[in-house]
Amino acid sequence: MERVIEKAKFLKGRINPPADKSISHRAIMFASLAKGISRIRNFLWAKDPLSTLNAMRALKVEIETNFEGEILIHGKGLNSLKEPEDVIDCGNSGTTIRLLSGILSGQPFLSILTGDESLRGRPMRRVINPLRMMGADIMARADDNFPPIAIKGSKLRGIDYKLDIASAQVKSAILLAGLFAEGVTTVTEPQKSRDHTERMLKGMGVDIQIKDNTITLNPPERLNPFDIHIPNDFSSAAFFIAAATVVPNSEVLIENVCLNPTRTGFLRVVKEMGAQIETVNLHEQSGEVVGDIICKTTSSLKSVTVKGDIIPVLIDEFPVLCVLATQAEGQTIIRDAKELRVKESDRIKAMATELKKMGADIEELEDGVIVRGPTKLKGSEVYSYKDHRVAMALSVAGLIAEGSTTVQDAHCVDISFPEFYNLLQRLQR
Ligand code: S3P
Repeated sequence: MERVIEKAKFLKGRINPPADKSISHRAIMFASLAKGISRIRNFLWAKDPLSTLNAMRALKVEIETNFEGEILIHGKGLNSLKEPEDVIDCGNSGTTIRLLSGILSGQPFLSILTGDESLRGRPMRRVINPLRMMGADIMARADDNFPPIAIKGSKLRGIDYKLDIASAQVKSAILLAGLFAEGVTTVTEPQKSRDHTERMLKGMGVDIQIKDNTITLNPPERLNPFDIHIPNDFSSAAFFIAAATVVPNSEVLIENVCLNPTRTGFLRVVKEMGAQIETVNLHEQSGEVVGDIICKTTSSLKSVTVKGDIIPVLIDEFPVLCVLATQAEGQTIIRDAKELRVKESDRIKAMATELKKMGADIEELEDGVIVRGPTKLKGSEVYSYKDHRVAMALSVAGLIAEGSTTVQDAHCVDISFPEFYNLLQRLQR
């Protein structure tokens, strides 16, 4: 499916972006391991979290949904999962395959995990190595690097592990295996990545200590069930923050967004660029900081240099940050972001190639980009690489380009944000 985007005259109104994807995955997985009934409200009904929901059903967890879209999970305890009858298809979802690898390493049965073409090209050695050190019997294609992954659960022991790269998925896989291990599990990251796993497990009664970038987990006897209202996804809100900033005559209120500081590096950067953004109505909800974001058109943006410790806390916002950079005065440099090459697509290459087609001055670096601006973008035919965040970022670029922009393979927004184009249209009426 392709989507045609026309230059927008304004964006006005309030939106409720979709629920947080990272928290939706974790809520389903962790509730499945709890003892008792958990209730999940405001779940993200999109392809990625559905891969997790179907995986847990394949592991014989009883999961009910009601007409309001709520989910009830009848957790039967840490050792209640059952051998799946078939290969588990994780679709496009890195979070599903990596976090599940951690859980399944501690189960007394065989599981095989695979996914779509993109997922089958994403590196898995980063989870296989530490899980093996914990005693897991785990292997994968291409010399243990690409899915399918085969896991024969075994007795695990806790380890003290230092990650080479900041990754919430790898950190979480190790901590989840640690739930089933004998002894303490410790993980240290080079920089802080999103901490939803730590927050949620703590809320379920697990003894987790956090000091700087080191997390220590003591294996619990049980996980307590919960009742959660998942806040909305900052990474989805980011497309509207960017769009309201660059489209003239705009003012958008984005409601109920998770503002966990391990997710909002993009907010700091766009403020530094001079964007008019305010966060209001801050409060705590289900163990996370939540608030509303108000953004207005900003006529002149300044360039910035983005590198180092902030990269992991804005990693998913890179595609849309590139679009903003094309409208900033001067040279925006983004570095230390080599991880982007192994996301749902090679996001450095994707954004450099497609924004160039639209007339941007963007140079690809091994670990980031240099963007010189401001440039007037022109409507073009661009490709999403079947990557949801690339499709949405290019659509935002289309809103300020002269003429029509056609985004090819735009249906991939269903991975995290099925209502994206509907919401965009609503703000233009
Ligand atoms: C995620 C972690 C990040 C992020 C991904 C979701 C998570 O990946 O890019 O979209 O839910 O833990 P890495 O752990 O590979 O950095």
